[in-house]
Amino acid sequence: MSSPQAEIWERYAASYKPRRAVNAAGATTWLNWTQYPDHGPDEVVLGELCGKRVLELGSGAGANLAHLATLGAVCTGIDIAPSRAELAHRTWGHVGGLEFVTADALDYLTETSTRFDVVYSIFGAVWFTDPQVLFPLVRKKLNDGGVFAFSQPPATPQQDEGGRVIRQWHLPVHQWIEQLAAAGFSEIVAETVEAPEPGKPGTVLVHARALPA
Ligand SMILES: C[S@@+](CC[C@H](N)C(=O)[O-])C[C@H]1O[C@@H](n2cnc3c(N)ncnc32)[C@H](O)[C@@H]1O
Repeated sequence: MSSPQAEIWERYAASYKPRRAVNAAGATTWLNWTQYPDHGPDEVVLGELCGKRVLELGSGAGANLAHLATLGAVCTGIDIAPSRAELAHRTWGHVGGLEFVTADALDYLTETSTRFDVVYSIFGAVWFTDPQVLFPLVRKKLNDGGVFAFSQPPATPQQDEGGRVIRQWHLPVHQWIEQLAAAGFSEIVAETVEAPEPGKPGTVLVHARALPA
């Protein structure tokens, strides 16, 4: 039986518009951390990927993860909305080395026996999950030295209000750093990638490395 959260995300999925088939550089797969096309850093943030085990939390239609699979990573994408895994599998199933699973991020991380080299989230489950609960679980399922990275919109006063149906976590940069350090991460970088045009919101991009347990 699906949860109220899954049902809300399933409704959100109904408004999904497919990403372009080809980007400005002529590539058919790519990773984009920001809400703007052809903008910001790429998968370099995640370090070496060939042969690495990668988990995406809130993988949506799967395009970013499929790109990492083309680079030789062994990839798992999880999403709480069942139609996302189905669509991602239909669209990217021909690419080897990746699977899509329907699951809540906390449930998946609690239950899986797999350890990952990279865990990341792009405007995904990290944005909607209490970091005090999520970050220690991510650390537990990362190999020592593994990379954790996520992006999302910057905090605004309205977004800090509680009480919304799906709660969003927007922390000031110094609090992301504190939460990650408390959960066993080092080499923490939390930055705002400026928007391509003045006056538009930037993107918070955070990455860190799992300290040896
Ligand atoms: C804004 S969309 C972003 C999707 C994708 N990362 C992208 O960049 O296109 C957020 C995604 O996170 C998923 N999601 C939200 N909360 C989640 C949770 N607790 N566990 C797993 N997936 C979640 C939603 O179903 C949705 O597909």
